[in-house]
Amino acid sequence: MRILVADAFPPESRAELTQRGHECHYEPTTTAEQLPGALAGVEALVVRSTKVTAEAFDAAGDLRLVIRAGSGTNTIDRDAASRNGVYVCNVPGRNAAAVAELALGLLLAIDRRIPDNVAELRAGTWNKAEYSQARGILGRRVGVLGLGQIGLAFTERVAALGTSVYTVAKQGRDPEILERARAVGVTFVDTPETLAATCDVLSVHVPGGDSTRGLVGRDLLGAMQPGGIVLNTSRGDVVDEDALLEAMDTKNVRAGLDVFSGEPGSGTGTFDSALARHPNVYGTHHIGASTEQAQQAVADGVVHIVDEFGAGTVLHC
Ligand code: MLT
Repeated sequence: MRILVADAFPPESRAELTQRGHECHYEPTTTAEQLPGALAGVEALVVRSTKVTAEAFDAAGDLRLVIRAGSGTNTIDRDAASRNGVYVCNVPGRNAAAVAELALGLLLAIDRRIPDNVAELRAGTWNKAEYSQARGILGRRVGVLGLGQIGLAFTERVAALGTSVYTVAKQGRDPEILERARAVGVTFVDTPETLAATCDVLSVHVPGGDSTRGLVGRDLLGAMQPGGIVLNTSRGDVVDEDALLEAMDTKNVRAGLDVFSGEPGSGTGTFDSALARHPNVYGTHHIGASTEQAQQAVADGVVHIVDEFGAGTVLHC
C-alpha cells in the first residue's frame, strides 16, 4: 500500500512498514489544510494530531484506511469517512499509562505548587513559608470521570497513594476494567454530579466528541467543594472553560490541564488562552501520550492494524 504518515512516528516502525513492502511516505508536519492535496494515490493514512476533514476524504479517491495513532478518533470526520467507504481505526489503551502518569504528576504539582516553587527559586527567592501549606494527597477522595483504559490506569496509580477513588456506575463496562477497579476499592456513585460533590479531586478521562462536550460545566463545577481540583488529560472541550474560569475565581478551584479547546496541533505557535494563563491552572501542551514508551506502543499498534488490513482481516475499530 502507499501509506502517508502525516505526524511524528518512530523510525523503526516506519522501517517495519517499508520492510513489509509498503511505500511509506513520511510527512510529519502535514497540516489539516495541506492534507487534501497530499492524499493523491494514498491508500492508508496515519495521523495523530492532524485533523482529517470531510474535504480531505472527498479529495482522496484511493484512500481505504485511516489510522489515528492515539486513543480517540475525534479529530477525524467519521461521517465523511463512511460516505467515502474508508475504514477508521484508532489504537486505544496503549498510551494509558503515560496519560495516567501525567494526570498524577499534575495532581502532585498542584498540591505542592511545584511549578511556582521552581519559578520563585529560579528568580532567586527563598520562600519556605509560602509553600508550606499543602494539604497532601493521602486520604483524599478522588473522582474518576470515565473509567476506560486511561481512567483505570489513573485509578490504580492514585489509589496506591492512599486515596479513596470514586467513579460513576455505568452499564456495559468492560468486565476486566470493573474487576481491576474493584480490586483497588473503587466506590461507584450514581451521577457525575454526585461524583463531583463527593470528591476533592475530579480527574476527567472520557472520550471527546458530541456526547461529552461541556460535560464538566456549571452543574458539575457547582457541585464541587471550594478548593477542589480538576484534572483534564482527555479533550479540551469536555470542560466548559468559562464555567471553569468562574469556579476558579469564585471558589478557588484549581486545575491541571493538558488539553484546551482550540489548542493548536503538534507544531509550535502562539496560544492565547485565559485558562492557560490563570494562576490556578498548571497547563501542559497536550503531552499526556508523549512518552517514548507510549509512542512506540502506539506505533506497534498501527503496524499491527496495517498488517491485519493487508491480510483482509475484519477490523474492529
Ligand atoms: C490520544 O488520543 O491518544 C492522544 O491525545 C494523542 C495525542 O497526543 O495527540
